[in-house]
Amino acid sequence: MIEKRLKTRSVAGTLALAQNIYELMLPVPRMVVLRGDLGAGKTTLVKGVARAIGAKEDDVTSPTFNLVHEYQGTKLKLYHLDLYRLEKDEELLALGIEEMELDPDALVLVEWGEKFPSIMARARGQVIITAGDEPEERWFLVQML
Ligand SMILES: Nc1ncnc2c1ncn2[C@@H]1O[C@H](COP(=O)(O)OP(=O)(O)OP(=O)(O)O)[C@@H](O)[C@H]1O
Ligand SMILES: [Mg+2]
Repeated sequence: MIEKRLKTRSVAGTLALAQNIYELMLPVPRMVVLRGDLGAGKTTLVKGVARAIGAKEDDVTSPTFNLVHEYQGTKLKLYHLDLYRLEKDEELLALGIEEMELDPDALVLVEWGEKFPSIMARARGQVIITAGDEPEERWFLVQML
């Protein structure tokens, strides 16, 4: 397992750090769960990863209501899922995560994936985001299997 602990002190810092975290997530295909409280910085990290793969980062907004967002980079595809509002395993099946995982060129990043044991069983890594001492400080514990 690869384990790295990284810190940022601003949103811009997180967007920049996303390039490093993205490289730690390679190679694809891979599904990674992004963990942390509301407002921890999961979606911000996804924005930075979208930038790292060469997708238009403006397109990345919180998919809390639209559960799945898809971004095309220059080489890779990024699927961004937010399962916060999802409750049932049947709803999860309907999202077609299996198909996303089978896409050989895709990185699948899942917010609130820890709600579902079936997701945790198949994820091949996680990033745990926690607050630091300063208001804009964030710690990223990156664990890749
Ligand atoms: N270093 C930092 N990195 C990322 N976000 C930061 C940082 N410092 C402050 N913030 C703020 O924290 C919030 C992070 O929001 P974001 O949507 O990324 O969180 P989230 O973990 O996806 O939350 P949710 O579970 O609600 O989807 C934003 O309001 C952002 O401005
Ligand atoms: Mg979010």
